[in-house]
Amino acid sequence: MQFDLVKIKKEAKKLIEKAGDAKALEDVRIKYLGRASGEVTKMMKMLPEVVLGERRKYGPLLNSLKRELEESLEKKLTVLKTLSAGSRVALDITMPGKKVSLGHLHPLTIVEKEIRNIFKAMNFSVVEGPEVESEYYNFDALNIPKNHPAREMWDTFWIRHQTSDIRHQKLLLRTHTSPVQIRYMEQHKPPFQIIVPGRVFRYEATDASHEINFYQVEGLMVGKDITLANFKFVIEEFFKRLFKKDIEVRLRPSYFPFVEPGLEVDVQCVRCGGKARLPDGQGCGLCKESGWLEVMGAGMVHPRVFEAAGYNPRDFRGFAFGLGLERIAMIKYNIPDIRLFYSGDLRFIKQF
Ligand code: FA5
Repeated sequence: MQFDLVKIKKEAKKLIEKAGDAKALEDVRIKYLGRASGEVTKMMKMLPEVVLGERRKYGPLLNSLKRELEESLEKKLTVLKTLSAGSRVALDITMPGKKVSLGHLHPLTIVEKEIRNIFKAMNFSVVEGPEVESEYYNFDALNIPKNHPAREMWDTFWIRHQTSDIRHQKLLLRTHTSPVQIRYMEQHKPPFQIIVPGRVFRYEATDASHEINFYQVEGLMVGKDITLANFKFVIEEFFKRLFKKDIEVRLRPSYFPFVEPGLEVDVQCVRCGGKARLPDGQGCGLCKESGWLEVMGAGMVHPRVFEAAGYNPRDFRGFAFGLGLERIAMIKYNIPDIRLFYSGDLRFIKQF
């Protein structure tokens, strides 16, 4: 007796490959492995009638052919199932769509952009400076000499580094954006007006209104006859545009070594309108019942600062200010704690 197993295997595999759906595949299975009349099954049934030598030869061959065909059928069935599932997804318009979640700007970026645009509309240029700064630009050139108690106003992150260049002698993470005043004046002649948004660092304990890493926006306007009246106008106009309403501004005397006179700027509380009480009679928590919110330091540029930048202080006058970006954003969006900005908490971030 002769079984042409090679031919049978070839034919069966061809049919398996051609089968376009589960039904066609099942027909192939029945044709070769069907229990009653499958070709391979029939041959196996015939084995007992075959002479012993032949039986020993064909027995294992038939078993392995059967196994191979079963495996091929199984694989093809998986392929057919995947394909039909795919076509169902493509056609089933009732299946819920995949949600694409879009990113958006961080609230601080939104406020910073708004501040840039307001000042640009008032003809200010936007300038930036380095976050790793030298002791010279951060302190000395701003009239804050070594060992002066005013240095205590800024808790500093120092960087270990040595060079012989006096301007880059000791490096630090800038504690404010004011060093950019000097850097800009060294390169430009008045009149000009600039703002400097940027990240600053202070080695201090954090609480609801203090971070070790925060943002400031510096302002500097220098010309022949700039006065505090110019500052008051610019800053009132700025707050009016930022909070989209008329808002009163209060200037209080203060001290910063790089300005004279120095000022602290308060704006009327945006929640209680300066009344210190809310309509329901409760005390206003935002301004701590004072009716005012402290938003920035400012003043007229100190003559020593002009000198450090290479100007003759008799030739020019100017005002400078430095505001805390987070404080402005907290007021604008009524945010109770500065640490929320850096928490990475999506429940907070997604509200903007
Ligand atoms: C200064 O940094 C001065 N360079 C500002 C200045 C510029 C004065 C030009 C005069 C002329 P001060 O340390 O007060 O000043 O900081 C300015 C603002 O930064 C503060 O009003 C406050 O809004 C914000 N700020 C200060 N410390 C922190 C802090 N730890 N976390 C968050 N915001 C802060």
